[in-house]
Amino acid sequence: MHRDDEAPTNLSDNRYFGDVLQAAVSRRQFLKGGASAASAALFGSFAFLAPGEAQAARKLKLGFDAVAKNLHDVVTVPRGYTARAIFRTGDPIAAAVADYVNDGTDGDMHLRAGDHHDAIAYFGLGRRGTWDPDNSRNGLLAMNFENITSTYLHPAGQTSPRPQAQVDKEIAAHGVGIIEIRRHRRGLFEVVQDSPLNRRITAATPTELRGPVAGSALAITRYDSAGRMTRGTVNNCANGVTPWGTYLTCEENWNGYFRRASTDAANRTAAENKSFTRYGINPGANGANSWASLPGDAYERWNCTRLGTSADGSDDYRNAPNTFGWVVEIDPFDPTSTPRKRSALGRMGHEGCWIGPVKAGEPVVFYMGDDSRFEYVYKFVSARGYDPRRRGLGAGDDYLDEGTLYVARFNEDGTGDWIELAHGKNGLDASNAAFPFVDQATVMVNTRLAADAVGATKMDRPEWCAVHPRSGEVYLTLTNNSNRGIGTNPGPNASNPRNYDSTTGSTTASLNGNVNGHIIRWREDGDTANALTFAWDIYLFGSRAAYPADVNVSALTDDNDFSSPDGLWFDPRGLLWIQTDDGAYTDVTNCMMLAAVPGRVGDGGPTTIGAQGTVVGATPTGDKLRRFLVGPKDCEITGVCMTPDNRAMFVNIQHPGENGTFAAPTSHWPDGGSSRPRSSTIVITRDNGRQIGLVDRDDDDDDDDRGDRDD
Ligand code: FEO
Ligand code: CA
Ligand code: CA
Repeated sequence: MHRDDEAPTNLSDNRYFGDVLQAAVSRRQFLKGGASAASAALFGSFAFLAPGEAQAARKLKLGFDAVAKNLHDVVTVPRGYTARAIFRTGDPIAAAVADYVNDGTDGDMHLRAGDHHDAIAYFGLGRRGTWDPDNSRNGLLAMNFENITSTYLHPAGQTSPRPQAQVDKEIAAHGVGIIEIRRHRRGLFEVVQDSPLNRRITAATPTELRGPVAGSALAITRYDSAGRMTRGTVNNCANGVTPWGTYLTCEENWNGYFRRASTDAANRTAAENKSFTRYGINPGANGANSWASLPGDAYERWNCTRLGTSADGSDDYRNAPNTFGWVVEIDPFDPTSTPRKRSALGRMGHEGCWIGPVKAGEPVVFYMGDDSRFEYVYKFVSARGYDPRRRGLGAGDDYLDEGTLYVARFNEDGTGDWIELAHGKNGLDASNAAFPFVDQATVMVNTRLAADAVGATKMDRPEWCAVHPRSGEVYLTLTNNSNRGIGTNPGPNASNPRNYDSTTGSTTASLNGNVNGHIIRWREDGDTANALTFAWDIYLFGSRAAYPADVNVSALTDDNDFSSPDGLWFDPRGLLWIQTDDGAYTDVTNCMMLAAVPGRVGDGGPTTIGAQGTVVGATPTGDKLRRFLVGPKDCEITGVCMTPDNRAMFVNIQHPGENGTFAAPTSHWPDGGSSRPRSSTIVITRDNGRQIGLVDRDDDDDDDDRGDRDD
């Protein structure tokens, strides 16, 4: 299904400006400094200290045998590890809710785990129900429910015309969940079914718009003529965790949920039509699952056709799409709080929102990808300096409602520029020939059009970011792009350098674009959040091990070859976890997760791939990159976090059996037998109870199994 890989809507002609490959990545002066105390528990100590980084990387030693590629209908983890499903689609999260029968007849979906578990985060729980970043025995898991595999949700799949009970179940299966978990014995976690902190946020939950778009004419709907309130969140993909104890959930392929009549274009302004086209909401769109086919406000809200007679849209949902496509902040510790959509961070197919290391008094930086072919990479820098004492959504107001949004240009020589997207800057005003950017709300609602206008770099589907806990270097998965260099689409460039045959790896015959994806990384010049320039290189290329060297650029072997990197996470020790959502290597292996000890930006150098110049990091050896997990059939692996003691890891298994039907499931994971498959959170522990992923202290010559200290 791989719904993320939608038809590209970026038809702007942004190309590369640089045309000369220079001899070296720009080097910078590394500041030797001490650790910042701020949020050390969450992010580890943070110092821009190149020699220390190298030392720390040497100390990190992978301590497990690589898992073999396989097509089994189980979760495979290394010898000495155990994985258990602890939170499956439909599992109850409130007292007296019945166990999930999983035959399509279950009700109360708003009181159960949703479907398509995606990004996940662990928040340690203190005794008074507040955040305790050090608690590894009792905590909250916050996670996204991105989508549904509808064939398994109903007795015999979706039926048409759509029954209201089916649609209500589907709306409730989307959104976000907060659940309390507790460790009973070492490594054995259970969900606390009756916890007062358990919560479901669905596609119908009242939600507040914040930032420049709140109260603007672009956000007026029949639900709120003031343009400040909306309902629900959909297609929540990746996430972010803030050092003020909140959870960020990100709306990715929200556009697909809207119905729009084939006659609607004639009733809209040229700017409205241009905006709809750029975000992929075309006349004649039915809307995913036909929710808008039912009568009543709860369903008609998914129809963005201009139906009313008002001038401002207060009598229909013509503006409803403008209330989706945002980063949404949730306080997991307050189940009565209203989620806040942070419009200052721009509107796009938000994959996730990852915060850079924070320092008291300094601006806070957030990195974001727009996951569609040829879309862009962004960062947002807060106007206010960071105050480590602040907590909750009020702190979020400080850092997420006022600031500056930038889009990235990756130059051919390994340098990059952050280009400001603000009304009145860089030609983003009412007289812009491409689009009338009349005010800041218009720039934020039409972030993609603004990025087109300033000449940002079109990337191969920007997915997750991960920020190194000490260096602040940012890693970003570019999952794949089957259109790169195909037909009239843009060809390879330095930061997206490959186009090859998907079955042989040949770069001369039947090209299929960059089907296996890569991971790029960058470091801000001056190591500051609000830098306007950066240095980048490509850390890793996905590929079959058998492919030729100009496709298998990272020299992957059977122990670590992979395709379509998507989920990405640095644990606090500095291990990088790479997850796949693949359709190009699934003839050989199910999707997987790898562990890596990466180097740093500039540890390789300029090179060419075929005729394309690029900058590539040091080739990872087998002791620096190893396959840790393979999932069950037809799943993607997405979402990973750990307890603060690094001894329990939570991973989400999304849509096992997605290519099957209720009559013939292609997976029976996790319950086995003839059961329908269920997306699930698994917990992974070591049988010896020690830290995940690394060698044990007494096996390690370096006498340090943590590997996380520079001193
Ligand atoms: Fe929902 Fe881009 O993965
Ligand atoms: Ca994803
Ligand atoms: Ca995905």
